[in-house]
Amino acid sequence: AQTDVTPYERLTQVCTLLQENVTYYDWVGFYFANHKARTLHLKAFAGEATDHTVIPFGKGICGQVAVSNENFVVPDVKAQDNYIACSITVKSEIVIPLFKDGVNIGQIDIDSHIIDPFTPADEQFLQWVNEQVAEIL
Ligand code: SME
Repeated sequence: AQTDVTPYERLTQVCTLLQENVTYYDWVGFYFANHKARTLHLKAFAGEATDHTVIPFGKGICGQVAVSNENFVVPDVKAQDNYIACSITVKSEIVIPLFKDGVNIGQIDIDSHIIDPFTPADEQFLQWVNEQVAEIL
């Protein structure tokens, strides 16, 4: 067991594993909610560094999921008006809320450089990933 590794370091390992092994997962990150401040905070990622490390609830795809508690699959980011662009290379995005003890505590966010790559299988798989992650937090 990796007893010397912090939970956020393990999360970074999860991000790297996903980003390196799924061809269309180009950026993978975990945001966590500060419910009092109503902001999301980037705690682990793999891929290019982003300026958007703090996102208000309601803003962008991520901010909307913080409020809706629902999966959000975006086949083409150009079709979204409430969207925060991290890089012009990003074409599509998927955000899956992460629940611990029934509370939406954050989310996994994945960007892809291709249009419309995400299927219901990605949603199911990433929900499963989030369930595993909830166990280590
Ligand atoms: N595109 C996201 C912002 C986060 S970046 O993708 C890393 C959004 O609209 O919420």
